[in-house]
Amino acid sequence: MSRHIAVLNGPNLNLLGEREPEIYGRTSLADIERATKERARTLGVECTWIQTNHEGELVEAIQGLKGHADGALINAAAFTHTSLAVRDALLAVRVPFVEVHLSNIFAREPERRRSLLADLAVGVVTGFGADSYRLGFEALARYLESR
Ligand code: DQA
Repeated sequence: MSRHIAVLNGPNLNLLGEREPEIYGRTSLADIERATKERARTLGVECTWIQTNHEGELVEAIQGLKGHADGALINAAAFTHTSLAVRDALLAVRVPFVEVHLSNIFAREPERRRSLLADLAVGVVTGFGADSYRLGFEALARYLESR
């Protein structure tokens, strides 16, 4: 059965490639989007993609998942560590999601080692750079397929 996975990207991820490349790598978000959509095609999964720098827009995108997406791949970026509103939206829609990060958030500053979302996730992929998206997407597609 064909599935729909929505990929949601939070603040500052539009600057990937030029932003702190020693932490986040030199791959742009557009490149990650292209690679993810290509992988989605080979897996027969529909993939939609958004990036926003605004917390409310991310909340609205999560609310909009209900009835539209079977699952979500989410890099909430800094909102991962701060946003009860994003957590509440995920609790409200109950769409299965995988949390991804380019960097290993557990190897960074103390305030980044806590995720307000991770316990709600099917799983978390953190620290593999752009590859975190591929790994997370494949794992989520497989998870949805097996349900
Ligand atoms: C990030 C990690 C966050 O701590 C940070 O605020 C980001 C990116 C990552 O993908 O490694 O913006 O989510």
